[in-house]
Amino acid sequence: MRFHYRCSDCGKEFRTDGIMYQCPDCAAENDGTRFPKGNLIVELEEEVLRAAASKEHVTPDDFYPYPSPDPDSYPVGITPLMRPRRIQRKLGLPNLSFKLDSQLISGSFKDRASYEVALQAIAHGERKIALASTGNAGAAMSAVGAAMGLDIVLFVPASAPINKLMQSVLYGAHVIPVKGTYDDAFALSIEYTKLFGGINRNTAYNPMTIEGKKSISIELFEQMGRRIPDAVYVPVGDGCIIAGVAKGFSDLRKAGLIDRLPRLIACQSEASDAISRAIRNDDFRIVSATTRADSISVDLPANGRMAASYVRESGGWAVTVPDQAILDSQLVLTSLAGVLAEPAAACAYAALEKDRGHLISELGADAEVAVLLTGTGFKDMKAFDGRVSIPPAIENSVEAVRALPSFD
Ligand SMILES: Cc1ncc(COP(=O)(O)O)c(C=O)c1O
Repeated sequence: MRFHYRCSDCGKEFRTDGIMYQCPDCAAENDGTRFPKGNLIVELEEEVLRAAASKEHVTPDDFYPYPSPDPDSYPVGITPLMRPRRIQRKLGLPNLSFKLDSQLISGSFKDRASYEVALQAIAHGERKIALASTGNAGAAMSAVGAAMGLDIVLFVPASAPINKLMQSVLYGAHVIPVKGTYDDAFALSIEYTKLFGGINRNTAYNPMTIEGKKSISIELFEQMGRRIPDAVYVPVGDGCIIAGVAKGFSDLRKAGLIDRLPRLIACQSEASDAISRAIRNDDFRIVSATTRADSISVDLPANGRMAASYVRESGGWAVTVPDQAILDSQLVLTSLAGVLAEPAAACAYAALEKDRGHLISELGADAEVAVLLTGTGFKDMKAFDGRVSIPPAIENSVEAVRALPSFD
């Protein structure tokens, strides 16, 4: 047995390596008005951590509850660690980097969680995985399902960006658009697995999603020459990615490979700021999320409690930005770094721009800062409507070329 579970709220341990979703006692208190309780943390056994510690180089497989028998069947990372020189100069942060998870196979960070849940399904002889998604997790699970021959049942808000839905259909998933919010789709997908079986991959509800997401921290550690950043800016909706980032560093620390944690900075839109409120004021109430950054538009964050406590434990903080700053940041990223990021991902950069002065006062301008750019902008080009215009076509003639203005 490589692991056991622990309730993130009451601390109770569950010594099984079977499939578990939540602590039954704590989950029984959930009433839909406050952040849910009872999410489970996967704890690796001592010998797994010792084996990882003895290696010259580690990979996520060394820390997965379900290691991959065939990592090349759907490679998850290593994603590029970009040093955006023009943005470093603009912000006066010479050690800034961008982790480009937009380069994962389905175009978002969500491949990381989906891969580990697929391994869980295969280990338990399950062929069907159901989930709810704002779009990216569904596309990622559908892509992994296609590569591994699994059946994916996907509940998404009907308003999700069309490219994300098309992707999932193309990968062969059973896509069920829901006339409701992401939170509605979340609840329906849980009902679906209760009624029809299979594994439920809902973010944080299935603790293996956090375990998959932690791979980014293992990757960063090796990519940075066995060092870790001083601060990581993470876009936050449900709070599962940021918990995964925290868990990866925490596992590295338990293995004795690092002796501190980076500051985790939770980046949200002002129009979907539930977890920021929890970090700042211990406020665990539902919000009405209206942000254009669809992937981080969440009323009731599925992993809000765990995310808020990990951010605090790291000495980090929350930054919220208006939607306009998110949309402006997309254009900064394209024009100064050549990176096309979806709004949710651009939120992490928008938060860094806003927080720059505070960051420097806390950690100094030489701090090693990583921004997670979690999803590609190609999936949601509608976000640029009204902001980009394609110039009119010219006649096919040399005269028309001569008549062009100078572009110098
Ligand atoms: C591109 C992107 N960034 C950030 C997030 C936020 O992750 P979480 O909901 O785990 O906080 C998501 C979630 O869907 C996403 O798709």
